[in-house]
Amino acid sequence: MCGIVGYIGPKEAVPILLDGLKKLEYRGYDSAGIAVLKDNKIQIKKRKGKIVKLENLLEKGAPKGNIGLGHTRWATHGKPNNLNAHPHNGCNSEIVVVHNGIIENYMPLREKLISEGHNFISETDTEVLPHLIESNYQNDLTLAVKESIEEIEGSYAIGVISTRDPGKIVASRCGSPLIIGVGEGEMFLASDIPAMLNYTNRVIFLEEREIATITKDGVKIVDSKGKILEKEIINIEWDVEMTEKSGYKHFMLKEIFQETMVIRNNLEGRINLTANFLELSEISFPLKNIKEIEKIFILACGSSYYTALVGKYIFEELTGIPVEVDYSSEFRYRKILLGKKDLTILISQSGETADTIAALRACREAGSYILALTNVRGSTISREADSVMYIKAGPEIGVATTKAFIGQLMSLYILSLYFAQVRNTINHTEIKKIIFELIKLPQLVEIVLLKEPEIIKLSEEFFNYHNFLYLGRGINYPIALEGALKLKEISYVHAEGYPAGEMKHGPIALLDKTFPTVAIVPKDKVYTKVINNIKEVKARDTLVLALATEGDKEISNIVDRVFYMPQTLDILYPILSVIPLQLFAYHIANKLGCDVDKPRNLAKSVTVE
Ligand code: G6P
Repeated sequence: MCGIVGYIGPKEAVPILLDGLKKLEYRGYDSAGIAVLKDNKIQIKKRKGKIVKLENLLEKGAPKGNIGLGHTRWATHGKPNNLNAHPHNGCNSEIVVVHNGIIENYMPLREKLISEGHNFISETDTEVLPHLIESNYQNDLTLAVKESIEEIEGSYAIGVISTRDPGKIVASRCGSPLIIGVGEGEMFLASDIPAMLNYTNRVIFLEEREIATITKDGVKIVDSKGKILEKEIINIEWDVEMTEKSGYKHFMLKEIFQETMVIRNNLEGRINLTANFLELSEISFPLKNIKEIEKIFILACGSSYYTALVGKYIFEELTGIPVEVDYSSEFRYRKILLGKKDLTILISQSGETADTIAALRACREAGSYILALTNVRGSTISREADSVMYIKAGPEIGVATTKAFIGQLMSLYILSLYFAQVRNTINHTEIKKIIFELIKLPQLVEIVLLKEPEIIKLSEEFFNYHNFLYLGRGINYPIALEGALKLKEISYVHAEGYPAGEMKHGPIALLDKTFPTVAIVPKDKVYTKVINNIKEVKARDTLVLALATEGDKEISNIVDRVFYMPQTLDILYPILSVIPLQLFAYHIANKLGCDVDKPRNLAKSVTVE
């Protein structure tokens, strides 16, 4: 949700800022801009639209200078246009700010500043910041920033430069991520790691309300009281190749084809194959406490919420522990009824989703132990949770999640199996059987991916429809929700996911020959039930595409098109069924000419409520 970059060092800032912005474009692409400080002057260039628009503008003449800030915007206050684009400056173009987040009390601040003679030109909440800093400025930019952020309410990650106090970038965060990159004689600032991987993999994570004064030779970080902090520099394992398209047309497609690797990464080091035993040393939750868990709450947003729903089925099936799943954004405003022996699991690819962070803090207050499943080391959620299980997907750039979904599912399988082992809820033969099937998964996923041409053909047949119903039952019901979400978010085609058995309580009224149905119908324990539901759909003249298990002859006599998945255990089908649905959505969106990696109005990391 908005991306920030900053550079200070011996090199020209603009190419580095542009490169960083491109790596952060998944965070928002309503407008983009840069500001460069040189010879006591700050030049700002900004453009509505994607970063390429800014790049075209800069080709006609880019400001020179070695200190700069950049921003890619996901609009909250004020529509996407050149005026509302960041960076924003104060009255005399002496103080310039880029901001990610929402200043909730911006209206009274704006009125106060206007009454003091400040002149505002945009509709944004952000614009109060440079004016506020300007009015608090005595002779030290860091101090002026400190005093200003004490006056604001809401969330922010900011980068500030000034002609009055040149040679530095001042940065701070509260509720939105910000990372400092440490180079040799140069320093970087960014909302996320990929923006700086071309230059350094040594980073410092800013914590809430810390203030950093960055010069080309280093950084001084203080807490909100002004106390100087010794911060650890962390080496990030990701490399820049991981953030490139590597010959694929879109990141989304590359990321789907990385899913076998994600599965292998998740299995590695967590399963002792000689003893058929799970080893989860990364979880610091004491074994005694695992045995005593009375209930699990799984909280997440977006697609992560759907993996949480799959998690409910797996945990209840394998461990017998009752599981409650909720959207973080709903849970945080409910009466929180967490018992002492309840475990909270948070699922978040980015580790930065504002509502999930808020849910984490609410659960912490209620005294719950918090286990996070996330992809991003150093993210807010990874730092605030008691234990972290990484989903090992590597950087995910496509806005619509794919490989991280698989990483989350894999982590949930391994975690629940581990709990089952500790709690002795399933016997060793069953554990062995599940481990055996988990290990086969990369091979099975490979088979699904090799059938991409079949999906392309199906997408050619289906891409002209305007409405779809996705049906699944049991553990595949959340996959119907995810399949529908994938289609609507990247192709803008309306799609509804529904539990197959519930469909006759409403959605069936919509069905006719213009409204195809995608049914997930593996040979599992609810197979015959779903078949009956499909027959109800077929009776309404609806075109049905089924995802079925290889060898299921019966289904081909009932539905219009079948995509066969290899056979696996009932609980593992979500992995095999979601991949064809990801590919189906991708190829429909691609055929419709949509910008698959940057769907309109969406952002990968939702750092505002
Ligand atoms: C956004 C993304 C989704 C993601 C959701 C939750 O909406 O576009 O792909 O599932 O946020 O994000 P998280 O990082 O918490 O998993």
